[in-house]
Amino acid sequence: MASIWSAPNPILFGFGAAAQTGAELIKLGCKKALVVFDKGVAAAGISARIIRILSHAGIQTVPFDGVLADPPDWSVEAAGALGASEKVDCVVGVGGGSSLDTAKGAKLLIANPPPLSRYYGREGVVTKPSVPLIAIPTTAGTGSECTPGGVITDTKRGIKTNIAGIGCAVTLGIVDPELTLGLPPSVTASTGMDALCHCAESLTSARANAVSAVTGREGIALVSKYLVRAVRDGSDRAAREGMMLASALGGISMSGALCHLSHDIGRSLGAKFHVPHGNGCAACLPQVLEAIAPVKAEQTRYFAESFGAALPPNAPPDEIGRAASDAARRLMKEISLPPLRELVPGLSGLLSVVPEEVVMQCEMAAKNGIVTSPLPVTRELISDILTRAYEEN
Ligand SMILES: [Fe+2]
Repeated sequence: MASIWSAPNPILFGFGAAAQTGAELIKLGCKKALVVFDKGVAAAGISARIIRILSHAGIQTVPFDGVLADPPDWSVEAAGALGASEKVDCVVGVGGGSSLDTAKGAKLLIANPPPLSRYYGREGVVTKPSVPLIAIPTTAGTGSECTPGGVITDTKRGIKTNIAGIGCAVTLGIVDPELTLGLPPSVTASTGMDALCHCAESLTSARANAVSAVTGREGIALVSKYLVRAVRDGSDRAAREGMMLASALGGISMSGALCHLSHDIGRSLGAKFHVPHGNGCAACLPQVLEAIAPVKAEQTRYFAESFGAALPPNAPPDEIGRAASDAARRLMKEISLPPLRELVPGLSGLLSVVPEEVVMQCEMAAKNGIVTSPLPVTRELISDILTRAYEEN
């Protein structure tokens, strides 16, 4: 059977790489950049640093500091309108997933007429090429610098949706671990778990492919080695570099293979309860691993063993599932990730909206030929995963 994966855009990787942003834009023939970031990135002084680098290279800058978490469609449209009215010839996104996804949407709208809703979808979205986009992540989690699309909140329907196509493609990712040195432990933990979920879910996706088999595994190995270190000591440069690489590999791994149950649930927790993306996606990871072990035993075993589980060679799938689940739960405790029960108002509220929405989203995706979960997605399955995550983690 044919599988699909994306060859990622070029990535400039390493400590100090951000200093080359201006020179890279000059090579692309650019003169005026829309620089997209949020107030947190501004407060950390990172956007000012990038703007200084661009100015030194002779690039004019138009700042857009209105990025919001779970980017609402209207804020992305505002960024695109600013870029179009200022006639910029490139976009630079600086920040976490929300900033990079807003930058992708802004790029798209510079060459394609609004509203953004015309370009919702994952595959088969027709867009015109637009100006170059440089994506500079400041967290190690999203991998958005390596993915060909973004996630936007459709405020009319109150759901998260995707934008995709050549119109929002990244031209160059500049991945500089130095930009993550000042991240607080809680952000390092939640974004790091996002990277881990990208790797674990793409590795076990119904659309897993030859690339996710390699990059997903390597990403899991890097997270197992470096996430606890990066959370405990933010100045640990090797750990920061390892997590940045894990994040980028996670982005490559999920391009094509995509994510499944943990992200499906996490997106719903984000849209309904404003749970931060990494926390929401990780909240049910132990139970998801246990649920999929019977159909993805070899990959689940790899996950468990990467985090130190000792399994006999002939371990049955339920033993493998429990070992993977325990390993994920142990990691979450070690990095002080808040459990699901601390993220939502209560179990009954959770069960009254999330299973329904996850099933609806998966059914909609299936209508477009996109099936990622290795198990049939039913209300019963999602309710069981949520209930156990709420009570056990
Ligand atoms: Fe994610």
